[in-house]
Amino acid sequence: MINKAIILAGGMGSRMSPLTKAVNKQLLPIYDKPLIFYPLSVLMLAKIKNILIIVNKGQLEQYKKIIPNGKNLGIKITYAEQDKPRGLPDAFVVGEKFIANNNVALILGDNFFYGQSFTNQLLESAKLNSGAKVFLYKVSNPESYGVAKINKNNKIISIKEKPKKFFSDFAITGLYFFDKKVVKFSKTLKPSKRGEVEITDLLNKYKKSGKLKAGFIGRGGAWLDTGTIDDFYKTSAFVSSIENRQGLKIACLEEIALMNKWIGKNEIKKSIKFYGNCNYSQYLKNLI
Ligand code: DAU
Repeated sequence: MINKAIILAGGMGSRMSPLTKAVNKQLLPIYDKPLIFYPLSVLMLAKIKNILIIVNKGQLEQYKKIIPNGKNLGIKITYAEQDKPRGLPDAFVVGEKFIANNNVALILGDNFFYGQSFTNQLLESAKLNSGAKVFLYKVSNPESYGVAKINKNNKIISIKEKPKKFFSDFAITGLYFFDKKVVKFSKTLKPSKRGEVEITDLLNKYKKSGKLKAGFIGRGGAWLDTGTIDDFYKTSAFVSSIENRQGLKIACLEEIALMNKWIGKNEIKKSIKFYGNCNYSQYLKNLI
């Protein structure tokens, strides 16, 4: 079982400067809420309640203003700082104390997931006892991601980070489920040519021992990028279309907490007070 998860929400955000000079990328808006709400909602849908958010050194106060400690959501949020972006597996070194002797999920703070039956896939993945699991998604620009080649039986046979030459069009999305060996494995990784430890090297360690599983987000699902300013606008347009068509919000954290029976009306009322008079609060009012 997986009861703990990490959101890696640091990084320099250099591709989005000057927007990210004063504010961390994950706090910028995707339509009507900060980007960080979306990966956090994914973990909550997986029924994971104990969450560590790793942020850049010096940016803790920004995050605490919007997500203080998770109490209003019936979950426990703690924070840790990463002094510089050493690579994704560094999350397991920074988070070693938090993980202790447990299995753990990792989601990148800038990843957006959406789709029918995705929640069931999440709940299934959170049952992981040993090994590791990733989600693959077919994309038209695989050279921008970690990529996995699969065989006829949908088993991963090979993995590469941002391959220049075509290799497979299955991107490895930024949501990973690991057993407790992940801390030990992460500590043995050496930085790649770009000077970071790579998640693909970590996944290869699991693959070598036949312990890496793949899930698929099908063509009815969405895994969107928020790497550039253009991506922010495209993802915002996607969220706005769905939300306005249905009158339902994507990644309303309080709604998920209420659905999971982690909170009741009182906490929702407190959240309404906290957010103040805004469209998001109006939506919360309608929930109760
Ligand atoms: O989005 C999925 C992709 O994420 C995977 O397909 C790749 O295998 C994986 O390497 C990663 O690729 P990126 O190059 O897009 O990762 P990026 O450096 O943009 O970092 C992703 C997020 O993690 C971003 O919000 C910043 C944060 N981050 C990154 C690093 C390297 C940290 O907080 N600390 C870090 O040390």
